[in-house]
Amino acid sequence: MTHKEHILVTAALPYANGSIHLGHLVEYIQTDIWVRFHKLLGNEAYFFCADDTHGTPIMIAARNQGISPEELIEKVKKEHYHDLSSFQIDFTNYHSTNSEENRELATGIFLKLSEKGHIAKREIEQAYCEHDKIFLPDRFIKGTCPKCKAADQYGDSCEVCGSTYSSTELLEPRCSLCGTPPVRRTSLHYFVKLQDFEARLQEWYQQDQHISPAVAKKMEEWFQAGLKDWDISRDGPYFGFLIPGESDKYFYVWLDAPVGYMASALHYFRSIGKEEFFFRFWKSDPDWKIYHFIGKDIMYFHTLFWPAQLLGADYKTPNGVFVHGFLTVNGEKMSKSKGTFILASTFLRHLDSSYLRFYFAGKLSDSLDDLDLSFEDFLNRINSDLVGNLINIFSRSGGAIAKKLDYRLSALDSAGKAILEPIIAKKEAMISLLEQRQYARALREILALGNLINRYINDREPWKLVQEKPEAAREVITVALNGARILALYLKPILPELVQKIEKQLNCPPLTYANLSSFLENHTILPYEHLLQRVDQKSIDAILEESKQTLQEKTAQTTPKGDSSLISLQELQRSELRVGEIVEAKEVAGADKLLQLTINLGELGNRNVFAGIRIAYQASALIGKKCVVVSNLEPRKMRFGVSEAMILATGEGESLSLVIPDRQAKNGDRLK
Ligand code: MSP
Ligand code: ZN
Repeated sequence: MTHKEHILVTAALPYANGSIHLGHLVEYIQTDIWVRFHKLLGNEAYFFCADDTHGTPIMIAARNQGISPEELIEKVKKEHYHDLSSFQIDFTNYHSTNSEENRELATGIFLKLSEKGHIAKREIEQAYCEHDKIFLPDRFIKGTCPKCKAADQYGDSCEVCGSTYSSTELLEPRCSLCGTPPVRRTSLHYFVKLQDFEARLQEWYQQDQHISPAVAKKMEEWFQAGLKDWDISRDGPYFGFLIPGESDKYFYVWLDAPVGYMASALHYFRSIGKEEFFFRFWKSDPDWKIYHFIGKDIMYFHTLFWPAQLLGADYKTPNGVFVHGFLTVNGEKMSKSKGTFILASTFLRHLDSSYLRFYFAGKLSDSLDDLDLSFEDFLNRINSDLVGNLINIFSRSGGAIAKKLDYRLSALDSAGKAILEPIIAKKEAMISLLEQRQYARALREILALGNLINRYINDREPWKLVQEKPEAAREVITVALNGARILALYLKPILPELVQKIEKQLNCPPLTYANLSSFLENHTILPYEHLLQRVDQKSIDAILEESKQTLQEKTAQTTPKGDSSLISLQELQRSELRVGEIVEAKEVAGADKLLQLTINLGELGNRNVFAGIRIAYQASALIGKKCVVVSNLEPRKMRFGVSEAMILATGEGESLSLVIPDRQAKNGDRLK
């Protein structure tokens, strides 16, 4: 590599209506390794991401949680960023699609498309729920599959027979929020005339080396099938950006989602006073390159719609769209009931993030094929390959033996250098494998080199030498640790935290491809500190068990109930309704709707509750009143303190009325 490259890399923006799970992490880990690799090469690499915040599901999720969409996306963004960072994903900037930069850029793109005549408008008919007063996306319609007659299927596809259809074909369709059968309603929609871009899209994907043959094949199929106009508008209520000139029509989430890549970059480059970098990447400099990593489910959006938007608005098109397959767990689609729908946070409670990075790297290539996380294989690879092979070199040579030798290394003689030679010689191969996203192959090479060093240690038996010929033992660990140091460099993009510990232990400057052959000779390392331990089956069992539980809880809290508003007895029993007595009540400064109540629940003690009932009740009038509360509600942190239960009330405004037990009832009694 002679000159420094400038690359802007993105990973798909996670939806703000769910938590990060191991499936997502395939992508973020794959991308992060690539960006780190480029930085290690000395390139100027930027990694931009954001939360994808718009759309009906997010609006509904917020509604279900009783908060505004803005509050929801703010909360989720923090959680996402925290989870991703905990997996050592190092973003240059993590932004939000609900940002000013995104509004500015998305609106600009739309106006440009409009100005050039690429936007069409026409009326279309859609499903509408008269009860909820919203147009229903396919995923919010449930009914009986027209093909196999399975009940309770989504409006776009059947999970039983796998067929896809349009929501109008669904039998006995119902709104998944309230159970009402939807009606058909027409409204005016905006479309991007995708065909206007056909020739230029063809040219884009054929010229570019960076789209894999498998992706190109998909694109050919799409061109053969013919490009259709793309519907980019949605009627209110909708959480998104208003379309210029409209008062209740919004950009469809997928119009502004990929623009979020640009918004994240713009925000960052502005913040460091280098806005011109944004323009070099997206407008003017063909040598400053753009690469997107995505999953195979969102190819159409990234290889047709997105480049069309960019072409139409006179921006540069991506230099690569890298597509990966889907994660399966133990050979099957991730399943909530089997506990294999594993959240990032659940994994982290039991295992180190390096394990997952190592495991995924061992599975990743440039292919579109799905990859499987099998826990048996996971245990094996971590315990034999990562710990048994690689970490072992450090603990054997840098541990007890080094201690006896005062942690001092010798010089390398020519025999020692000869051992290291094949390890150094892999540098170019390593670089090219990582550059091509062939991580699994790279890791296999690293493990083979690890075996080589381990064999060398076994042959020389430094644990024996150290007794009688300490200088010979010193030479052995010098060779072994120098070899391990090079492996650490090769591993660095995959396991950055671990390698940082290794650098510290070896007491050497940060490893780069450039300083690969500056050996550690006549050098003192630091006392060995534990690096990583073996994985125990127990941790895996705990992850599976916890995944079953958390998802049951999450589903109970947030999923709009399928078919109707009925709940099962089991669900009912999960909520504890208890009699309470208001023993204290006061106004909350700064919140004119709230009262702060202390409610006595008998044996359960007192609970602090913030209730939005001030409009209807005076604080003093409430003291001594009995009430009904949900006592097992998750405590909610509010601006003024923590609310530890919910008081039941009915009605609105001044006619709001607390639900009160009709006869004498004991504090803490559970309602039946
Ligand atoms: N919000 C869109 C992307 C917009 S990009 C402008 C989206 N979000 S997502 O949260 O559903 O997925 C984010 C990324 O994670 C996608 O690339 C998706 O393919 C990937 N994955 C989600 N589940 C996955 C697996 N089970 N396995 C592998 N990747 C998965 O799509
Ligand atoms: Zn409805």
